[in-house]
Amino acid sequence: MKAIINVELKTRKVDFSSCKTDLLAIGQFSDVKGLDALSRELNNKLNGEIERVIKLGDFKGKEGASAIIYGNERIGAKRILLVGLGEKKKATLGTVRKAAANAANKSVQMKAKNLSLALHRAFGGQFDLSMMGKAMAEGTYLGSYRYDEFVTESENGRLNSLSAEVIDSDSAKAKKLNIGVTSGVIIGRAHSYARTLANRPANVINPPALADEAKNLAKATAGLSCTVFDEKQMTAKGMGGVLAVGSGSKSPPRFIVVKYSPAGKAASSRPTIALVGKAITFDSGGLSIKPANNMDEMKLDKTGGITVLATMKAVAELKPALNVLGIIPSAENMPGGTSYRPGDIITTFSGKTVEVLNTDAEGRMLLCDALAYAVKQNCSIVIDIATLTGACKVALGKYKAGLMGNDEKLMKQLQTASRESGENVWPMPSGDEYAQEMKSKIADLKNIGNKWGGACTAAAFLRQFVGDAKWAHLDIAGVEMFEKATEYTTEGSSGFGVRLLTTYLMNLVTK
Ligand code: BES
Ligand code: ZN
Ligand code: MN
Repeated sequence: MKAIINVELKTRKVDFSSCKTDLLAIGQFSDVKGLDALSRELNNKLNGEIERVIKLGDFKGKEGASAIIYGNERIGAKRILLVGLGEKKKATLGTVRKAAANAANKSVQMKAKNLSLALHRAFGGQFDLSMMGKAMAEGTYLGSYRYDEFVTESENGRLNSLSAEVIDSDSAKAKKLNIGVTSGVIIGRAHSYARTLANRPANVINPPALADEAKNLAKATAGLSCTVFDEKQMTAKGMGGVLAVGSGSKSPPRFIVVKYSPAGKAASSRPTIALVGKAITFDSGGLSIKPANNMDEMKLDKTGGITVLATMKAVAELKPALNVLGIIPSAENMPGGTSYRPGDIITTFSGKTVEVLNTDAEGRMLLCDALAYAVKQNCSIVIDIATLTGACKVALGKYKAGLMGNDEKLMKQLQTASRESGENVWPMPSGDEYAQEMKSKIADLKNIGNKWGGACTAAAFLRQFVGDAKWAHLDIAGVEMFEKATEYTTEGSSGFGVRLLTTYLMNLVTK
């Protein structure tokens, strides 16, 4: 299989009109009359061509729109890409990120190897330059990403690498931009890493293969270490939930723990934060088998776990003074002669017993062991992320992840990180009424509730395994994939949560 497109991104101080590049991207708002200073400078050199495209109505600055103008040796750039930013009063850092994604997407499409971004100029002083640098970097990775590891025949081939840069003619500005670009590149790379792992099908990634990937990542990354429990070790520890879910598959389950401890930084006084991610490498439903339609999408049921792994990679590179434990329980949910059955009563790692009424409600069965393990490791903050319920997708659609929890402050912090990272969340309940529905007559809990509020009852189930820890739960069923390609990115795994969780963690040390 071939390597995913390699993207390099730097910051450079260079004069805008003499900047030698294949594609120079600049922004334009739809409700701002006339050109900003940078567009005016380029427009003058280009004999008024930018103005003409706008006057003709070919380009109105709408969000998602773009237009190309050729340089024809009048400026250093071979092409200018005008990128629509929409209405100025609605602009957020997400506007910057999406504009960069749009430009990077076009750059890869037209095989323009060198991309120069000057999108921040249109925003004036609206946002902090470093934050804009970060957003442009994240957007560059988002938009240039292509999943084509297994494509051996493509008509026009594709770029092997994209060489991108954020540019400014003012060296003080370039310096500020670069602070954000540096962290944005780390996050963007981790995000693409997550999308690639998630996009790989279940015949390529099974739980042992994911465990090997985690080990390799830890080996290659300073500050990370990795421990994996195999099925024998899980049996010895009593991790009945993970074992039950994995029992029907030829590929045995794995319990993956990735630890970040900062070198030479005094983080011992800080609480250890656990990130727990569901990694079902394929969810067939098990004996409570799913219908055939779209079952292929269930290769993405490992997204939560992969998000955790990629976040650990980003955190290790950003090096905050924090202790973070990434916990990734992984199994393949398959029907078979050895699989767990509806009616089974499982003793989980916590000691609590669960009556299985539907083997397709497997996420909670394996997460409950991981949550209890996090608490046992003295993690006082526990955040889990999982493609947990179709009900969450019904409730919130594909635009927002469900956010549940038992701690107001933690939920607020995640909402702040959500606004900054552009990965949207929406608060949902998971309290006592919902927990009541999860009581079994013949065990402590059952694994499904009644007909309604499935996202909330699932969260209420998990809530009972975190003890006194501060806990938040992200249900990412619905946002884990892009159904279709857009101006900003291609279809497939969205890698949702890498930006959100990394931003949350970094805010703890910077805010
Ligand atoms: N992995 C699914 C949830 C899911 C559905 C993710 C659609 C992404 C898109 C989960 O394991 C599942 O099957 N949940 C069941 C729970 C039910 C049996 C209580 C569901 O949502 O139908
Ligand atoms: Zn599932
Ligand atoms: Mn399921």
